[in-house]
Amino acid sequence: MTKQLLLADLETAATMESIEQIRIKYLGRKGLITNLAKETDFSKFSQEEKKSFGQKLNELKIFATEQIEKAFERVKDLESGAVKMVRLVDLTVPGSVRSLGSMHPITMVQLELEQIFEGMGFAVLDSPEIETEFNNFEAINIPKDHPARDMQDTFWLKNDLVLRTHTSANQVRTLLRFGVPVRAIFPGRCFRYESIDPSHENTFYQSEGLMVDENVSVANLIGVMKTLLSEIFRRDVKVRLRPGFFPFVEPGFELDLNCMFCGGVGCSTCGDGWIELIPCGLVHPSVLEFGGIDPKRYSGFAFGLGLTRLAMMRFGIRDIRHFNSGDVRFYEQFAPIL
Ligand code: PHE
Repeated sequence: MTKQLLLADLETAATMESIEQIRIKYLGRKGLITNLAKETDFSKFSQEEKKSFGQKLNELKIFATEQIEKAFERVKDLESGAVKMVRLVDLTVPGSVRSLGSMHPITMVQLELEQIFEGMGFAVLDSPEIETEFNNFEAINIPKDHPARDMQDTFWLKNDLVLRTHTSANQVRTLLRFGVPVRAIFPGRCFRYESIDPSHENTFYQSEGLMVDENVSVANLIGVMKTLLSEIFRRDVKVRLRPGFFPFVEPGFELDLNCMFCGGVGCSTCGDGWIELIPCGLVHPSVLEFGGIDPKRYSGFAFGLGLTRLAMMRFGIRDIRHFNSGDVRFYEQFAPIL
């Protein structure tokens, strides 16, 4: 009977404290089991009876002690496990914010540009950042010792290789590879030996565009440029076309964009209210010849869009140096908002 009571009590005990209470209840100085001996009148017991009572009482004590010990062990494991858990998971530590990555703003603009041009039937080509001197200069009509080379001072590598100064370096390769008719853009990174300020970087992005076919004229060039800019800026933009000199186009133009920061009155980003954005022109006959194309039959246009500058306009970034800064605070601003 006592055994069953004890087991029932132990079964519901979940803490060291409550088991200790049970131990006292049964085995303490005034405990139920301890009292059994005290409350028994041995005078009526025979010698035999005393002996067997003593033995049973002892067995009962041993049983109770063992059961209580087991219960202690069981709860001790539980409690120390719980303590460990609390130590491992410190619920008072402030949460850590896991910031989302984002696409680089130039990549965003580049992808948008690719989509717009793909919509006009242009292919998007990869092109090398390390170029031959021939492709970067000679093939596009900038011979050695030509003063135009000074416009694009670059980083020279060994074996007449250079870090390309512009994506135009891929023009002749494209003509040789694809022939005519051809419509392609080739976005990518370019390098110049440049002193750095809010609008000049030694490492920047451009996208070249090239279209060569029969009867391609300045009208086609302007049409494509207008489509491009109105799609990128999602509104009517003011542009101007003025003559520009580049050895590989004839005639050559500078397409300027009315500054969006100051509305065209002049500021530290634009200077005089206009931002030089797209140098362009009709492909020079000698470039076509280097590309194996007959300039009497074919003509084309080329442009060199400043992707970095376009990203500045698009996102209102006033200092070009942010792009390569590696400063997370800059990039975070382009992360998707959840
Ligand atoms: N490659 C020229 C530059 O980087 C830009 C350009 C490209 C001009 C195509 C005309 C035609 O300055």
